[in-house]
Amino acid sequence: MTQPSRPPRPRVLSGIQPTADSFHLGNYLGAVRQWVAMQDTHDAFYCVVDLHAITVPYDPALLRRRTRIAAAQLFAAGLDPERCTVFVQSHVAEHTELAWVLGCLTGFGEASRMIQFKDKSAKGGAEQASVGLFTYPVLQAADILLYQANQVPVGEDQRQHLELTRDLAQRFNHRFGQVFTVPGPYILADVAKINDLQDPAAKMSKSSSSPQGIVDVLDESGVIRKKIARAVTDAGTDIRADEAAKPGVTNLLRIYSALAGVSVAELEASHGNVGYGTFKRELAELVVDTFAPVRERTEKMLADETELDRLLAQGASRASRVARETMALVRDRIGLLLPLPAG
Ligand code: TRP
Repeated sequence: MTQPSRPPRPRVLSGIQPTADSFHLGNYLGAVRQWVAMQDTHDAFYCVVDLHAITVPYDPALLRRRTRIAAAQLFAAGLDPERCTVFVQSHVAEHTELAWVLGCLTGFGEASRMIQFKDKSAKGGAEQASVGLFTYPVLQAADILLYQANQVPVGEDQRQHLELTRDLAQRFNHRFGQVFTVPGPYILADVAKINDLQDPAAKMSKSSSSPQGIVDVLDESGVIRKKIARAVTDAGTDIRADEAAKPGVTNLLRIYSALAGVSVAELEASHGNVGYGTFKRELAELVVDTFAPVRERTEKMLADETELDRLLAQGASRASRVARETMALVRDRIGLLLPLPAG
């Protein structure tokens, strides 16, 4: 009997920077949780992008530490090395090699239009920004195209980088013949937009001012409870979503909704009159119940670096197989003289 052949799963690739001592609630709901869900429906590659993290000033020992912390949290949150490929970007040298080739296809003006660069370089003055920060989106395009990804689960803020990636793939294919899969514009649209607890008009982000506004995955439960208890709320007592008049409560409703899997409208109906205190206490327990097991598993993984590094080596070896194949094709197509094997 012949098995009906299953269509191959779409390939996804996504990346996350190891720039903090913990992922925060926004990262968790906006990225990590989607990644976990996609490992069973997609051929998934997930990458800790350490080379992107060095585009701004950083401390080397801290980077190494945070790379392990990031990877440990991904496994602890549910990424299973048997069902997806988790690896560290710098372990696969083809990322930087392809970035150079793509950089030579990217217009200076084109790169100059990237909003994230303009935002990030504006902070320290454009004169201070590194060339690496300028070419950051080209390295990101290389991450994606190396794996022939069909989809790239990213938030709205990465839309422009994804557009550049698609343009570069098409440009390369047009000039040198079909090599790259052009990734679809996969934007996580129905993903909750999580804002800062102290400044609910601003996105929850590690670059924001006060740590009190950010709930970290690795926060102790007591700390989580305190941060949520102290979250900025709004005038009045009723719990309802109203972005303009009640940004604080609206943000808490979104977090509750995303974690509990019930709609904001249902929450308004069930919790509209319970009062801010009760609502916050319930929400805090929900966050604690979600994060405490992840924190415990992360700590366990970090206590055995040998095993963690082994899992990452295994991921890198699987990723390398795909990356080498793409890069060999690229070298040939762009006219590089292929070296004879040494010997
Ligand atoms: N720039 C992405 C971010 O800040 C991180 C990233 C790097 C990425 N390489 C990637 C995301 C490749 C998706 C695919 O979130």
